[in-house]
Amino acid sequence: MNNQNIFNEIRSKIDIVDLIGEYVPLIQRGRNFFGVCPFHDDTNPSMSVSREKQIYKCFSCGASGNIFTFVRDYEHIDMKEAINILAKKAGVTVLNNTINKKTSKFDKFYEIYDLANKFYQNNINTKAGQKAKEYLQNRGIGEDVIKEFEIGLSLDNMDSLTKILLQKGYDALTLDKVGLSSNNHDLFINRIMVPIQDASGRTVAFSGRIYNKKSDHKYVNTKETEIFKKGMILYNYHRAKEYARRDKYLIIMEGYMDVFRASSVNIKNVVAIMGTALTYEQADLIKHTSNNVYLCLDGDNPGQKAMISVGEQLEKIGINVKVIGLSDDEDPDSYILKYGADQFKELINKAIGFNDFKLSYLKKGINFNSDEEVLQYVNSVIREASTINDEIRQEIILKKLAKETNLSYNTLEKRLGEYQKDAKTKINKKMELAKPSNVCEKKKLTQYDKAAYGMLYGMVSNKKYLDEFKNAALYFVDAPYRYLLTEIEYYYKKYTTIEIADFYTYLMDKEDILELFKNIVSYIDNDIINDEAINDFMKVIKDYNVRLEINRLKDLMKNTYDELEKAKILEKIKLLRIGE
Ligand code: UTP
Ligand code: MN
Repeated sequence: MNNQNIFNEIRSKIDIVDLIGEYVPLIQRGRNFFGVCPFHDDTNPSMSVSREKQIYKCFSCGASGNIFTFVRDYEHIDMKEAINILAKKAGVTVLNNTINKKTSKFDKFYEIYDLANKFYQNNINTKAGQKAKEYLQNRGIGEDVIKEFEIGLSLDNMDSLTKILLQKGYDALTLDKVGLSSNNHDLFINRIMVPIQDASGRTVAFSGRIYNKKSDHKYVNTKETEIFKKGMILYNYHRAKEYARRDKYLIIMEGYMDVFRASSVNIKNVVAIMGTALTYEQADLIKHTSNNVYLCLDGDNPGQKAMISVGEQLEKIGINVKVIGLSDDEDPDSYILKYGADQFKELINKAIGFNDFKLSYLKKGINFNSDEEVLQYVNSVIREASTINDEIRQEIILKKLAKETNLSYNTLEKRLGEYQKDAKTKINKKMELAKPSNVCEKKKLTQYDKAAYGMLYGMVSNKKYLDEFKNAALYFVDAPYRYLLTEIEYYYKKYTTIEIADFYTYLMDKEDILELFKNIVSYIDNDIINDEAINDFMKVIKDYNVRLEINRLKDLMKNTYDELEKAKILEKIKLLRIGE
């Protein structure tokens, strides 16, 4: 069996409605199912899933595809991985070499990281790694955790890794670019190495921790490279996502040590933000694991502050946020070490809502004797209350505030009204901004483009329309349409029929054509395709071709000085016009 056949077999064994339904709630309306599209920021059900066609398409952002593209894009993984996941689900065996791995110019980078990772892991198990192991043992990090997180060690000399990689044939420039060497010297020297993986589980960076020496930097991190964009990665995401889906919540912590500790007591649904602010991409990754998030950053002031900004970022995209409180001198690592897993799970159960956390945070350190500080506090609390969609809770907050500050309830309520008006206009503005822009920016389709779209869609859904097009001696002037037509013809020749859902897989490594095909699917509604419509499309395409040909001949005539030639061309134009 060739690859396409295997992919088609997998595809035919998994129903797309069931599959997508596992990720996104779907509601049936008519023949199709609808849900909130996970590929753009939205709250409306603008994605439709067709059981009949086994494809999805979003009316808002234009995303469309089959089960493979859905899993790939939802999980932020590559096609190979998506195929493996779905093959397993379908019970189809896929040999590793079946998947035509698209060679990317970064393959070499991944290979190098793979080698480096193995090298570091090996080191920690040799004599040179004894001290590092001791350090980890002393902190309660055992063999199992070392294995699970592939913790390693960079050696105490200037160039051991660089040498090995040069020997393997990688050039010095590449090693610099990938962030492991500089001028033939290792960048990581004598540190405990934590490999950082992307959403697919490929190692793309390292963080090296000091363990037996003093240094200004506790961790040295790989610089940003083409395969490592810090803002796109959450530490431990590829392992935690399955657990988070199972447990219906994800825990966010600050550092590697926190993740190691949690994992050592079998709390696996944890990622670390690696001590930075949260980007939109990271929030989006989180949303794809669960809509419930527990924030458990360090108990110190920076940690609490980060909790506010991270929580706000998550709430913005519709995630329910709760906060696990730790005292000032604790982080999850130290807490679990001191009090144990059960006590920590107790903290999870007692986690407070994000709004409550914010309110208590606002109150911290306010000097109630200072009018100015009180005013600021009052305003910030009311602003917070104005974003809460629950009148009773608002009343509770304001009553408490009135008591705390000795202000009248009416005064506070009046201000709440003002802020609520502000908030409304803000939300409207935000909605406008959130509208995906690519729909509006998409080039306006001419009458001819629309006909070409309809024609091509028709050909994919029924071979007879392809034959009609050919029999009428029609053709596409524009290269992209022509290329797609060639692929359609080829597919029919090889497989006799086309399932739209399989055609997506077939086009997977022909990016431009796939893009066109997606546009066509999202633009054309299946129901409009019938003999009559196809005839109309063919007429528009023919007229267009004739007009182009006439224009070409006219141009030709302008540049022809031989009268006889000119007359011949004129005759041709006349003939074309008659046929028009
Ligand atoms: P922490 O200082 O809390 O580190 O920083 P940690 O991982 O808990 O380590 P221990 O317990 O001190 O051994 C939280 C995270 O911030 C990033 C790392 O991702 C770290 O895990 N960080 C911190 C750096 O990248 N560089 C630093 O120098 C410090
Ligand atoms: Mn820490």
